[in-house]
Amino acid sequence: MASESEQKSATIIDGKAIAQTIRNEIASEVSILSQKYGKVPGLAVVIVGNRKDSQSYVSMKRKACAEVGIKSFDVDLPEQVSESELIARVHELNAQQDIHGILVQLPLPKHINEEKILGEISIEKDVDGFHPLNIGKLAMKGRNPLFLPCTPKGCIELLRRSGITMKGKKAVVVGRSNIVGLPVSLLLLKEDATVTMVHSHTIDPENIIRESDIVIAAAGQAAMIKGSWIKPGAAVIDVGTNAVDDPTRKTGYRLVGDVDFKEASKVAGFITPVPGGVGPMTVAMLLKNTLDGAKKTFEQ
Ligand code: GUN
Repeated sequence: MASESEQKSATIIDGKAIAQTIRNEIASEVSILSQKYGKVPGLAVVIVGNRKDSQSYVSMKRKACAEVGIKSFDVDLPEQVSESELIARVHELNAQQDIHGILVQLPLPKHINEEKILGEISIEKDVDGFHPLNIGKLAMKGRNPLFLPCTPKGCIELLRRSGITMKGKKAVVVGRSNIVGLPVSLLLLKEDATVTMVHSHTIDPENIIRESDIVIAAAGQAAMIKGSWIKPGAAVIDVGTNAVDDPTRKTGYRLVGDVDFKEASKVAGFITPVPGGVGPMTVAMLLKNTLDGAKKTFEQ
């Protein structure tokens, strides 16, 4: 058996660097559009309430817009806002000509019906890709959604830009959320992978994961996927961002993925780190969707 020092280690997929390349591409396209049409893409970023994690995601998204020249429209609503008020705001944003994308940060407070809100966003401005019509088109063969959800699209882009073939491969998606697990499994299908979904009721998940060439981990459970569950040479995309206590840090915590990185990076062929893997790609794909939405209206 190979000693630890002889063990081959995985290629680390640098999501931060790949996302930066995409952001540079977007910035130059925005600048060309601005010269050609005298207009820039606009994104409305709506946040309801004071969740710390949502606030931090939203501020990252707004900052990223500014960096590439996309105009962000900030809508900050109190936790107690009524469902009808929020719907009225969404309708205003739907009607506003200089807004090409609308993002309502999730989760919403309990008294607001998320499904209802997402269904009110104009499908042409649904840069999160969560409108049931966009998800429905994603689920059907031969139909093209106007927008793909950002994190799933980012996962596929990481595989593509790392030269990993999906066609014909065995892929497993761990987790079945509306935001990541479900749409990423549909995207992998569209890429002609053979897709299995593992979730909290799956019997013997380890063996299913161990047979898979591509693993997308989106369960929200810190380090639940062990190195021994990974097929040697597999590509591992870790969507998890779980805070675990770490008294050595100033903040008192650190972020870890759903995969035990230390173990899995000795077995996998490719692996994304947390942080610095999928996270930056989500933001880059949001910018890309907004740019694409704006281009469609400018070119009309
Ligand atoms: N909450 C967690 N991820 C996302 C996302 O991609 N979009 C929105 N709107 N909310 C989220």
